[in-house]
Amino acid sequence: MRKFIVSAVAALALSSGAALAAETAHIEDFAFSFEGPFGKFDQHQLQRGLQVYTEVCSACHGLKFVPIRSLSDEGGPELPEDQVRAYAGQFTTVDKETGEDRPSVPADHFPHSSLSNAPDLSLMAKARAAFHGPYGLGISQLVNGIGGPEYIHAILTGYTGEQKDEAGTTYYENHAFSTGWIAMPPPLSDDAVTYADGTPATVEQMSEDVAAFLMWTAEPKLMARKHWGFVGALMLTLLSVLLYLTNKRIWAPHKGKHV
Ligand code: HEC
Repeated sequence: MRKFIVSAVAALALSSGAALAAETAHIEDFAFSFEGPFGKFDQHQLQRGLQVYTEVCSACHGLKFVPIRSLSDEGGPELPEDQVRAYAGQFTTVDKETGEDRPSVPADHFPHSSLSNAPDLSLMAKARAAFHGPYGLGISQLVNGIGGPEYIHAILTGYTGEQKDEAGTTYYENHAFSTGWIAMPPPLSDDAVTYADGTPATVEQMSEDVAAFLMWTAEPKLMARKHWGFVGALMLTLLSVLLYLTNKRIWAPHKGKHV
């Protein structure tokens, strides 16, 4: 037993040490619309984020786990179906039957990363959640979000302008990245895109929008999950009250009698 306690304490100390190390990079917290128990994705923000992804990030990064048709799903960017069809057409997919390239259709997925060292972004917002987020796991995540989108925002806005060449690769200094030097050139500059809804396209704004969009790609059913979680909690509360009353009623005749 003592051994167990010692190793448990050691494990705790180690993991908090790791958490401290990760915290040296500054990650700013945001109140994204989808955080909190009743949070919802902001459809317009998701559409802006999709635009940033399409016009900037997709040059290197893929979203291979995301079906293009999900862009019209409820709770997502909710593009009309004809727009989704037109959107799909700009990508190509290798046809399973003919083995040849053809324009993508909504049933296809987004392409893979076109740059071999650029990671796929489908699940990035979740992959980086626990390590770099400002909050740990559990209740605080429900209230404050998981921290993944904050990390993505921090990466996109964390460049210092310094760069260095090492073994033929250029690295850019970025305080949010774990090693401090990232191989991704700063992808955003002011007005890199022109938003259809007139929102000024600052680096700050685009980073928030694309971070929100990548949260949606990683967790498209977030809203449904929260909804049913809430309904579940409500039902359990109701059930507890009923059980309490039933219990009282069953034992009422025997209470107060000392046999
Ligand atoms: C010119 C190609 C290029 C473009 C454009 C680009 N990236 Fe990257 N990105 C990379 C490369 C390469 C890496 C791997 C960097 C490394 O591991 O040092 C990367 C890594 C990342 C990471 C992962 C960081 C980590 O913790 O591993 C994120 C998040 C990311 N990019 C987001 C974006 C977003 C969002 C955009 C669009 C606004 C974007 N990137 C545009 C090339 C690009």
